[in-house]
Amino acid sequence: MAETINEVKFSDAAMAEIQRYISHYPEGRQKSALLPILHIAQAEFGGWVSPEVMDKVADILNIKPIEVYEVATFYTMFNLKPVGKHVLEVCRTGPCCLRGADQMIDMIKQKLNIEEGETTADGMFTLKPVECLASCGSGPMLQVRELYYENIDSEEKLDAFLEMMRNKEHETPTWKK
Ligand code: FES
Repeated sequence: MAETINEVKFSDAAMAEIQRYISHYPEGRQKSALLPILHIAQAEFGGWVSPEVMDKVADILNIKPIEVYEVATFYTMFNLKPVGKHVLEVCRTGPCCLRGADQMIDMIKQKLNIEEGETTADGMFTLKPVECLASCGSGPMLQVRELYYENIDSEEKLDAFLEMMRNKEHETPTWKK
């Protein structure tokens, strides 16, 4: 049976995966499963977590909603408003900037006609500058979901990357298969 609270409803597959994570921890320590459950929630609900979804996560874990909000708002990997199909998480920390990250961000803005935090009119891309992604020797670089795209150091490489992404479908999480 799928879980519901207000309008929020996780699929049976998602609930099974959530329960699997919760089962890794002793009774009373279920909050330790919060991060993976937020990832599941984000995958379930269009790539972002609304306050209602976070409330549902709190309900499942039997913790206060604020305990979910404070985690979801701390980590940049969680999106707190609707996003495009591909969220371009561009590293803008020092080493990548030395290799041209600022110029890449400016080119993305110009080519997609969006500013930071915005989504293209066709819903394809969201631009989201973030801090160091631990690929400092391969900048300028960006992350889309769990994958890194590195050394995008020319307009030609950026064009090729954007074209490739337009035709790319995301991997289905294993728990959804
Ligand atoms: S500075 Fe860009 S990945 Fe570390």
